Amino acid sequence: MSDLRLAAVMKIPYMFYNDLFREHIRIVKGEGVYIFDENGKKYLDATGGSNASVPIGHRVEQIINDILGQTKKVSFVPMHLFSNEPAERLAKEIAKLSPDGLKTTWFVNSGSEATENAVKIARQFQLEKGTPSKYKVITRWQSYFGNTLGALAVGGHTFRRSKYIPLLKDMPHIPPAYCYRCWFNKEYPNCDIDCAQFLERVIKQEGKDHVAAFIAEPIVGATTGATVPPIEYYPIIREICDKYDLTLIIDEVQTGVGRTGKWFCIEHWKVSPDIMTTAKGLSGGYTPLGAVIVKEAIMEQFIRNKSNLVGLHTFSANPISCTVGSSVLKYIASNNLVEKCRDAGEYLTKLLKELQEESSIIGDVRGLGLMIGVEFVKDKENKEPYAPEIGICHKVTKEAMERGAIVYPGSGTADGIVGDHILLTPPFIIAQEQIDELVSILGETIKIVEKKHPP
Ligand SMILES: Cc1ncc(COP(=O)(O)O)c(C=O)c1O
Repeated sequence: MSDLRLAAVMKIPYMFYNDLFREHIRIVKGEGVYIFDENGKKYLDATGGSNASVPIGHRVEQIINDILGQTKKVSFVPMHLFSNEPAERLAKEIAKLSPDGLKTTWFVNSGSEATENAVKIARQFQLEKGTPSKYKVITRWQSYFGNTLGALAVGGHTFRRSKYIPLLKDMPHIPPAYCYRCWFNKEYPNCDIDCAQFLERVIKQEGKDHVAAFIAEPIVGATTGATVPPIEYYPIIREICDKYDLTLIIDEVQTGVGRTGKWFCIEHWKVSPDIMTTAKGLSGGYTPLGAVIVKEAIMEQFIRNKSNLVGLHTFSANPISCTVGSSVLKYIASNNLVEKCRDAGEYLTKLLKELQEESSIIGDVRGLGLMIGVEFVKDKENKEPYAPEIGICHKVTKEAMERGAIVYPGSGTADGIVGDHILLTPPFIIAQEQIDELVSILGETIKIVEKKHPP
């Protein structure tokens, strides 16, 4: 077909969809752990609204009332001139829940913006301290901190970076903490946690006077599907950061606000970062909201030097979003949802591991709380992944959706190019029967996929 004729028959959409080549089902209603499409079909939302954004479920009356209440007072406050009570309240509440020493919140509107600002603060901190040559941010392969150019540059998601490489600042990458596919061909605990020790080697190679920060998701979300580092990992990372004067940035965009059975995931390692980001679950999926929480020592340096961060966004600290944030935190605390998330996660993991026993293509089940990854392989013995053209994770997602469950697919799991997983991050309110329902759908789904694509 000629280009002209193609243009004539092509239907150009009004919305620039993430995937232009797939029909997007229109969702019209949410209720608890379910969402409903325009034809009345019900789906169990096991992604919690696209990767961990809906911890308390859809359509919670309390949140709706609080939004309405704030809308009746004031919806927008220009933050270059003024402050507002919901933002001040939420900042205080976040400080109370955060690891030791993290006190001051810079509000943003998304996880990507949180990354951008965390990196800027880390860089500026070095300037304020009088070490301007330190600017590089060391990151890990198979990590993700957002889709903006700065966030992609400090990330390690091969596919999401690939088309924009010329626009990305080159940053050093170290291997991921990925025990199922250890880059050092070792097996925990018979390793020296080489994946953590590698940070020191790269700092030396890059030159300690050029490195400002290290950034990591405590457990990796979209890229590898809930890979959990060994218990020694973050204490070693913390020690190396201290030794070479690096700011430790921990991205809790997906893992934060209770998702892994603690308010913040890094608490599992009893480590306190210098900067922590969070978003997604912070506003329960009701409005866009993100936060960068900064350690007192960094704030002291800014204040001592009478220096400001250059980075305000128009909707930063929006009073409606901050009202939602407070309302969500209160709802989680008063309904003991962090503990419920931990218990529900243990139950879901147990059932998934049983499914793994029966299945010839589930290679690994891992995670913490209600952030669980299921990795698929062609051969369970040698962990050989399926060929990427098959798109096993997408096949699983499609079959699960037809049966009424939504899961989050991920490819490039094994090495950035090959490998497949799905990530499950349902709302914390998920009941035991709903977990049973989810696992039953997944069991059926995986049997169908195994049959269609035998290992
Ligand atoms: C760990 C992590 N950081 C940052 C982001 C980016 O967040 P957003 O999509 O809100 O920009 C994501 C999104 O999936 C994420 O999982």
